[in-house]
Amino acid sequence: SYNGSGMSVMELSHRSELFQNIMDDAESLIRELMEIPENYKVLFLQGGASLQFNMVPMNLANGKKAVYVNTGSWAKKAISEAKKIQGVEVEVIASSEDRNFSYIPEIPTVSSDAEYLHVTTNNTIEGTAMFDVPEAAVPIVADMSSNILSSVYDVKKFGLIYAGAQKNIGPAGLTLVIVREDLIGQVEGLPSMLDFKVQADNDSMYNTPPTFAIYVAKLVFEWIKEQGGVAGIEALNRKKAALL
Ligand SMILES: Cc1ncc(COP(=O)(O)O)c(C=O)c1O
Repeated sequence: SYNGSGMSVMELSHRSELFQNIMDDAESLIRELMEIPENYKVLFLQGGASLQFNMVPMNLANGKKAVYVNTGSWAKKAISEAKKIQGVEVEVIASSEDRNFSYIPEIPTVSSDAEYLHVTTNNTIEGTAMFDVPEAAVPIVADMSSNILSSVYDVKKFGLIYAGAQKNIGPAGLTLVIVREDLIGQVEGLPSMLDFKVQADNDSMYNTPPTFAIYVAKLVFEWIKEQGGVAGIEALNRKKAALL
């Protein structure tokens, strides 16, 4: 009986005030934890990080060029999915595939004719991570699925961050997207569910959002705050890593 409503969170209408409050709290907590500037939208979507492999090039590089860094199995998937989006030219500018993705390659200067540089901050399967955000003249898009909220990143250095929720945020079924406002709405006529502008204009409620997953994410954000925020979690992680 959530807040004495006589209903569980799962039963609440997503249009009800009670659920809207959960959504608002989840957003303001993630904004606080990651120090997300005002000119970024926070979207609670579905489809996993894998759908972002398509949505990002569709929305940000339609008919244009995007550059990618190939640092592991997930980066490789992101690249092959971007290539499927008609009209998008995909260039891989750095790769560590030659040594089985055992290192993070040097990233050359990105030419300004690209719409974005895509990186994977933590290569879940291979275990390498990118802590220093590369310098680039174009917006950086980061797949942070497996290390979001586990170490501090400066959101201002990114154009877009995405993460499937199931590793560090909450239950599967929710995907977090943090996107700079000026990158939204560049392409007309995209299918509504795949259009960042439609999702942003509808505050992630164009259709029924994954309500219970958002509720649990809110609880996790509260817990992270109690641990001293992302910096607190990072300190804990460094302590654990030092034991190994
Ligand atoms: C770095 C990374 N990217 C993408 C994915 C795919 O995520 P999803 O299952 O949410 O599509 C994963 C899943 O493990 C991942 O670790």
